[in-house]
Amino acid sequence: GTAQLEAEFQNRVAADQRIEPRDWMPEAYRTTLVRQIAQHAHSEIIGMQPEGDWLGRAPSLRRKAILLAKVQDEAGHGLYLYAATETLGVDRADLTERLIEGRQKYSSIFNYPTLSFADVGVIGWLVDGAAICNQVPLCRSSYGPYARAMVRICKEESFHQRQGYELLLTMMSGTDDQRQMVQDATNRWWWPSLMMFGPPDGESPNTRQSMAWRIKRHTNDELRQRFVDITVPQAHRLGVELPDSALSWNPERGHYDFSEPDWDEFTQVIKGYGPCNAERISRRAAAHRRGAWVREAAAAHAAKSRRREED
Ligand code: 3HC
Repeated sequence: GTAQLEAEFQNRVAADQRIEPRDWMPEAYRTTLVRQIAQHAHSEIIGMQPEGDWLGRAPSLRRKAILLAKVQDEAGHGLYLYAATETLGVDRADLTERLIEGRQKYSSIFNYPTLSFADVGVIGWLVDGAAICNQVPLCRSSYGPYARAMVRICKEESFHQRQGYELLLTMMSGTDDQRQMVQDATNRWWWPSLMMFGPPDGESPNTRQSMAWRIKRHTNDELRQRFVDITVPQAHRLGVELPDSALSWNPERGHYDFSEPDWDEFTQVIKGYGPCNAERISRRAAAHRRGAWVREAAAAHAAKSRRREED
């Protein structure tokens, strides 16, 4: 019976064995995986827009080539993750519709504007740095297809972070104006990067269950703390100030103390009222409409090929 299946499922998870698409799984496990992986995929696709705005304005061919490679990688990450959701029986077209209609989320971080080229460097350094802190543990997530997608994505993510940091090191050894651009971008992206990890554990409705099912391996606050501990020394080496006067090393804790992010801002942004939410969604919807002919052509070609094989 189901009790037996449930017990076997729990034993597999507790033994750190992967759950694969054909294994029995509680319906709630499947739906929370669809929720998290679909929103992760949406984040990758929407995340192409902020940096994409600088493709036509990159200061050199080298910077343009690096940025183009990164934006293409994000598209690929989205495709891996939509493929992982399809193993759970959902249809990619339906997920795109839910994104466009606001019935599914994407990462809050992509609702902020990229005002200067230094933003491209700071996104690589802070946003991809935060994504790495969040995604490395997901390589050990209990659902096989998700964990395997993460392994491939994390390899490319480290290039994303390094190219951003190197871009900033270059600018910091430039003119005062360039140094000020980096500081200004850091000031604007620091707090939204901390919010990427989700609400405080006490206000996170999904964390406890996701930890029990080993979908998540650490809580939101644990990963946020890990990100701060890694990033503060990088800011010192870069020569930028982080915009939090309470930031200081706490020897008793063995971690940096830091101020609470503005959770009202976070709530507003994930409700759709951030600086760029409307623009990101309308551009995604327009791209989906403009791309309809490609989907129709691919489907027609596939149907014709099938008919040819049957003849
Ligand atoms: N942006 C938007 N929504 C967020 C959010 C954020 N930064 N943080 C939390 N939320 C949402 C959750 O989705 C949940 O809403 P839902 O129930 O409608 O899905 C609600 O706020 C409560 O949050 P919880 O902490 O209870 O939710 P989770 O347990 O799902 O934790 C998470 C949130 C840490 C983002 C987790 O879902 C996760 O680890 N997801 C996979 C990683 C991911 O999505 N990363 C996106 C970053 S961007 C990226 O990776 C691209 C890179 O190339 C830059």
